[in-house]
Amino acid sequence: MSKYITDAPVTEPERQYYYMERCREWLAAKKEELGRDLTCGIFTFGCQMNFHDSEKIIAILEKIGYVKTESEEADFVLYNTCTVRENANERVYGRLGQLKTIKAKKNPGMLISLCGCMMQEEHVIERIKKSYKYVDIVFGTHNIYKLAELLYTRIMNNEQIIDIWQEAKEIVEDLPIDRKYSFKAGVNIMYGCNNFCSYCIVPYVRGRERSRTPRDIIREIESFAADGVKEIMLLGQNVNSYGKNLEEPVTFAGLLRMVEQIEGIERIRFMTPHPKDLSDELIETMAASKKICSHVHLPLQSGSTRILEKMNRRYTKEQYLALVERIKAAMPDVSITTDIIVGFPGETDEDLEETLDVVRKAGFDSAFTFQYSRRTGTPAAKMDNQVSDEDMTRRFNKLLKVVQDTAAVRTARMQGKTECVLVEDVNSHDDTMVTGRLSNNTVVHFKGDKSLIGQIVNVRLDECKGFYYIGERV
Ligand code: 5AD
Ligand code: SF4
Repeated sequence: MSKYITDAPVTEPERQYYYMERCREWLAAKKEELGRDLTCGIFTFGCQMNFHDSEKIIAILEKIGYVKTESEEADFVLYNTCTVRENANERVYGRLGQLKTIKAKKNPGMLISLCGCMMQEEHVIERIKKSYKYVDIVFGTHNIYKLAELLYTRIMNNEQIIDIWQEAKEIVEDLPIDRKYSFKAGVNIMYGCNNFCSYCIVPYVRGRERSRTPRDIIREIESFAADGVKEIMLLGQNVNSYGKNLEEPVTFAGLLRMVEQIEGIERIRFMTPHPKDLSDELIETMAASKKICSHVHLPLQSGSTRILEKMNRRYTKEQYLALVERIKAAMPDVSITTDIIVGFPGETDEDLEETLDVVRKAGFDSAFTFQYSRRTGTPAAKMDNQVSDEDMTRRFNKLLKVVQDTAAVRTARMQGKTECVLVEDVNSHDDTMVTGRLSNNTVVHFKGDKSLIGQIVNVRLDECKGFYYIGERV
């Protein structure tokens, strides 16, 4: 690939710091030439994992000297893509088309880059090579840390760089990170997924499960705490499997107990646990903890045991409901949220009724509802009896109504109580108000100004508005 000779170190992360420096020199010369700063616009689609990856990407680009912007007319534009649902892919192609025009008319020096889950699919790469030759740098989910090296290679060679790995090679620690908020941060505890739910593309694009060592995780969180971070979100596709493959195995609950000891950290969140292996040890650890937030995001996907089996979820309707009961018995104030898919192949109206039954019985605080999307390469894509668009929409609307009604009742249980709120932002509609979250993740808006951002304050929950509250600081 490279036509140039370097004295780059061979070990990581030193190699990447070397390339960041080389890119920095190049960028400084460009800046001189143009008489202005060079900007980068990063656009992220999909889940928390992608948003966290984008924080790593932005940190590398800032280290190189780019100035962050929200504009798609930037000098370096990157889409961090998601491929969980088909329409996400189509959106990316659409925006790439628009970017071509912007590049041609407004900023010919623009560098365009693509990364994320969609890039791990062969047919996507073929299409980019053929029809999107103006894209400069393409990388995948396993080699984000190499961005500076790829950028430098692109600058030196002036040709499209595509670098996709089928599997992760190593977990590279100690790279820079740019946090969106000063008071909260995401922390990867593991990568990949081994579950192969039959509708899901994630195991194919994010690879097998790999856990970071507790030592590396704790070290990262300690440095965040020293920086003033109060809340951390531990991230993994299936956090219950954390630590199983480490040289010295550790359970997820064991890791949580270690994180709890870190001074300065006041709230610990995690996502996502799989219902099939959420242990009693985890429930007990949560119930005994002062810092672990009383919120569990517990994806249901379907309430029909027959469909769950076809989805390869490895639990039944009854087991799911029993688990919800165990969690609520140990933590009466807990909030439980979920993900639900309608229109999985072979789903009937009776199956939907089973799902609605679980929604009513479980009492979710909120639910993300999705229409099934047929992902090429997954077992479900080949199943018979794909559900028609018409049935899908009808069932989706029915589900949404029940979710909204039950969630409003459940969320209202806190009405009149005074709770601790971590203030996150000035309210986006009314700048005399701020917005924050309870430990159980419910959103609260109340009168206040930006000086409160990052503080934990007491707020009386006056008025429940369905999914959120209007409150008053006390
Ligand atoms: N179609 C629709 N929804 C999906 N999800 C994952 N794969 C698909 C698919 N093929 C949903 C699941 C998962 C969430 C992140 O996305 O509900 O929990
Ligand atoms: Fe996809 Fe299932 Fe893994 Fe979640 S647990 S990422 S739904 S395969």
